Amino acid sequence: MTNNEIAIKGQEYVMNTYGRFAIAPVKGKGSYLWDANGKQYLDFVGGIAVCILGHCNDQLITALQEQSRQLWHVSNLYWIKPQVDLAEKLVNVSGLDKTFFCNSGAEANEGAIKLARKYFYRKKEDRNEIIVFKDSFHGRTLATLTATGQDKYHEGFAPLPAGFYYAEFNNLTTVEQLVNDKTCAIMVEPVQGEGGIRPADQNFLLGLRRICDREGILLIFDEVQSGMGRTGKVFAYQNYGVVPDIVTMAKGLGGGIPIGAMLASEKAAQGFAPGDHASTFGGNPLVTAAANKVMDIITTEGFLEQVTKTGEYLVQSLKGIKDNRIIEVRGRGLMLGIEFDRDIKELVNICMQKGLLVLGAGNRVLRMVPPLTINETEVNQAVNILKEALKDW
Ligand SMILES: Cc1ncc(COP(=O)(O)O)c(C=O)c1O
Repeated sequence: MTNNEIAIKGQEYVMNTYGRFAIAPVKGKGSYLWDANGKQYLDFVGGIAVCILGHCNDQLITALQEQSRQLWHVSNLYWIKPQVDLAEKLVNVSGLDKTFFCNSGAEANEGAIKLARKYFYRKKEDRNEIIVFKDSFHGRTLATLTATGQDKYHEGFAPLPAGFYYAEFNNLTTVEQLVNDKTCAIMVEPVQGEGGIRPADQNFLLGLRRICDREGILLIFDEVQSGMGRTGKVFAYQNYGVVPDIVTMAKGLGGGIPIGAMLASEKAAQGFAPGDHASTFGGNPLVTAAANKVMDIITTEGFLEQVTKTGEYLVQSLKGIKDNRIIEVRGRGLMLGIEFDRDIKELVNICMQKGLLVLGAGNRVLRMVPPLTINETEVNQAVNILKEALKDW
């Protein structure tokens, strides 16, 4: 089937929730994808920060093949060996103590919201309000889209769950104005992703930690996009030296296999008892076998240093582009955004036609979240294609 034939069939049978590009990738290897017409692309989208080891990584294939011959799925009514191995790895690297597994970022955040509320319920304290931030993104379930500080995601879904209050990102004063004796948690992305690749200021995250400690409330970091090595550390908060009470992750954790997780401190984790929260597929043997391999690879000596190095090289290369429509290049590691003075939709299309996949983060920010395994040659290739695209834009 061609791209066009797949698109026509999709329009007939798939629900209309995405504004899709007119290509259908059918094969991937490393940093490259091929569409159904055989055209090759350098993939700086990586399934939106998911395929951190590139496409069809050989070690991941082996891990999945081996596990697929052993056991695919059993319920969380039983102990699952690859799941407990993965939990140990995540605990050891995060500074937190306990793990809950699920299937996506939204589900991980939903779990974090529930945990924060149940924690205070168990303590018999009447606290259930959560402070979140404008321009944030936390997912598409009713609670997580309410936590998302962008009106466009709320429209038409009323009544929304109560108890979410919106402060300004990187502005502690607006947080102080919202904190009260009903607040149970503050939830924030250390680097806002969908909102335009905006890293938190050091003092902002330190300030949030201070407020949470002062009030005895929980600090939740949403690292669904920024986690798993994306910023040159396993978690972006490790660049700041600020440890949350709860952190959520998904996207890169399975390297393309769907898995999400929520980690909590010993204290916060006491909010949940058997029966409080669950997920049928959460942390099943097959997905956790993949995630174990991903964790092993990204914590191999030198891997994350290389992410930082490649990220710096990409930033320097992007900053070298002379184009007065560019306002700023920003981000951390390989989570980068180029802010333009106008809508970038057409630029994304031109890049695609020229063989480079990139995406937007908001209307004016061109986002690059490539596999963490990209090399300098691929960076050069991407930057050259972008330069050519800018000439035609
Ligand atoms: C920071 C953040 N949180 C949550 C989500 C939702 O994740 P998922 O689409 O896996 O539910 C996303 C997805 O883009 C995200 O970037």
